Amino acid sequence: MSGSTFGRFFQITTWGESHGPALGCVVDGVPAGISLNEDMIQWYLDRRKPGQNAMATPRKEDDRVEILSGVFEGKTTGSPVSLMIRNTSQHSADYTEIATYYRPGHADYTFDQKYGFRDYRGGGRSSGRETAARVAGGAIAAIFLKELGIDVCAYTEAIGPVQIKAANFDREAIYNTPSCMPDKEASKQAEELLRACRANKDSAGGIVACRINHLPAGLGDPVFEKLDANLAKAILSIGAVKAFEVGDGYVAAFKRGSENNDAFAMRDGKVIKATNHAGGILGGISDGDEVCFRAYFKPTPSIARTQHTVNKDGDEIDIEIKGRHDPVIVPRAVVVVECMAALTIADALLSNMGSQLSGILSFYHREN
Ligand SMILES: Cc1cc2nc3c(=O)[nH]c(=O)nc-3n(C[C@H](O)[C@H](O)[C@H](O)COP(=O)(O)O)c2cc1C
Repeated sequence: MSGSTFGRFFQITTWGESHGPALGCVVDGVPAGISLNEDMIQWYLDRRKPGQNAMATPRKEDDRVEILSGVFEGKTTGSPVSLMIRNTSQHSADYTEIATYYRPGHADYTFDQKYGFRDYRGGGRSSGRETAARVAGGAIAAIFLKELGIDVCAYTEAIGPVQIKAANFDREAIYNTPSCMPDKEASKQAEELLRACRANKDSAGGIVACRINHLPAGLGDPVFEKLDANLAKAILSIGAVKAFEVGDGYVAAFKRGSENNDAFAMRDGKVIKATNHAGGILGGISDGDEVCFRAYFKPTPSIARTQHTVNKDGDEIDIEIKGRHDPVIVPRAVVVVECMAALTIADALLSNMGSQLSGILSFYHREN
């Protein structure tokens, strides 16, 4: 199986299955000298952890990260940082039936068609649990970006039809509400909606928004390594994400050019845009404005309702899925989106180092 690596200069490789002994991430390309310890990574992992509230699966994982390499005396050494998270709450027996049939909305059928063999316990590599490994790796990217003053902030914008109100935006609420919404009122409404979903043996989808601030202009390349193309790949690689949009996104298709263009202006000797319909990226290159995008998540595919499907012998059957599942994926995926965005930006920053002679000269001709 190939395809477990993301990034060119700041690169992660994730490994492990949902119900194996452990999963983890190797992060290559981390600059030496970044202050790093397990607690700093743990802050990100705790935001993804299951079993925390009524909106998440009751599967309880400690999700304690262990740093196995690449850090000495509290600083990165420049060598690969290897991270491991032990699985401690596997209920593999819940999944034995899945070996014989294909769960609707899951990768069971396609995995079998491709590999002819699958680790059916909790979805193996296709499990949402794989994202714990990316969050561990992405946390290092986010910590690196903080050194440069770059702020990556993802949050829940909607759960089903419940949307946040811009006027209520409260950043702290992202970290304090079970929905990860920056709007406490909307969060309460979302809790109601999910209670009804659960009672109805159903699930809901939603939207994660992400804003990246203090990003310099010039990140991304104009052809195959466009910043928006790489963000799209990063975000669409997260299970259950069905659409990605930058700035005004799909709405731009219904507007006139005169409405959609962002006029340029001068402020304090600097070029700025009067509006930001573009979402901070023009021609695949960051323009120095806030980069903003959205990820659209489908409803959790595992639902308690009876569903119609097919087994491996080709019989049509009715099933009831056992196991512990999130009634909505979005709140736990917020930090996954944030970390994948951080990884993409860290990679673009390092790739940009050689774009101009003046930058190369100032690096190699520096005094110290
Ligand atoms: C953080 C996270 C948690 C997830 N938790 C669950 C879950 O509890 N139950 C479930 O059925 N799917 C869950 N998923 C979604 C499935 O992994 C995903 O829908 C499935 O592998 C099929 O992939 P696709 O939706 O991209 O086609 C989760 C995804 C993420 C990102």
